[in-house]
Amino acid sequence: MKQSDPNIDLLGRDFLSVANLAGDEIEAVLELGLAFKQGKLEPAAQRQIAVGQTLALVFDKASLRTRVSFEVAIRNLGGHAIYLAPGDIRMGEREPVKDVARTLSRMVQAVTARISSDAVMEELAQWASIPIVNAQTDREHPCQALADMLTVKEHKPALEGLKLGYIGDGFNVCQSLMLICALLGIDIAVASPPGYEPQPEILEKARALAHQSGVEVVNDPDIAARGADVLCADVWTSAGLEAEAAKRRQDFAGFQLDGKRLSIAKKDAIVLHCLPAHRGEEITDEVIEGPQSVVFDEAENRLWAQQALLALILGPPGERTAKRGK
Ligand code: CP
Repeated sequence: MKQSDPNIDLLGRDFLSVANLAGDEIEAVLELGLAFKQGKLEPAAQRQIAVGQTLALVFDKASLRTRVSFEVAIRNLGGHAIYLAPGDIRMGEREPVKDVARTLSRMVQAVTARISSDAVMEELAQWASIPIVNAQTDREHPCQALADMLTVKEHKPALEGLKLGYIGDGFNVCQSLMLICALLGIDIAVASPPGYEPQPEILEKARALAHQSGVEVVNDPDIAARGADVLCADVWTSAGLEAEAAKRRQDFAGFQLDGKRLSIAKKDAIVLHCLPAHRGEEITDEVIEGPQSVVFDEAENRLWAQQALLALILGPPGERTAKRGK
């Protein structure tokens, strides 16, 4: 598709980390996502954007939102998806990652991958000649961060200058939020129990990217919540870490997003949770079902944000391009 801003060119690009995009590129994805959501593009024109293109979904873990949103997004753009379930490929076991990358590159136009290991994700991207989109690794969940920012954009007049308070595990969702907030000029305060803070290199990177906003990591959830425009919680035990669940329930006690904590945020604060949620653990039923919760807008926005991302990295047939440097 013709990109509205001539300085924005995402054709053929990987999206492994939020930091693969500049702030104005993220803004362009969000603007296009909103345009799709608001029906500003004719469905027939949308279906020309990725006509005839195939997106492979390679997942090593279960998914509801990520899988469905990518499948619907590529279909809305005129292409189609092939879902490869956990166990179908057994990347690195049945055959080397580099062989999977080169085989898929001969058959499909992009890959969306949910792979725990960032090293495997990077190897896949290194050997593929098509764009690779990170659908969640242990380090990041960048597509979730795009949808979260699209949701904030819908509910707040401007992104710059807001405060986002994140309460919970400094894992993939948190780390992508730190990077995207830094790039968009949003103050972020992360509160995690000792030992569960985000990786120091992500904190350093976020601080290096943040020109107009702060990035703070603390162990007191009330510091994250106080005066926040956006409050965000995530599960205490991510998929794959179930053996740690009992210990984590003890370690995260006191880090729940409940009504009392929400009351110290701004009066018009919104509540995000990427879902699935464990009510009674990281968030109360009262908060997630309450009037400030926008978690189902957030879930829906996975579709629109990713549809925009795919439109910009795939482009129409005449503009298809091999991945940079391949
Ligand atoms: N939020 C999220 O990534 O949901 P799924 O695990 O269901 O894809």
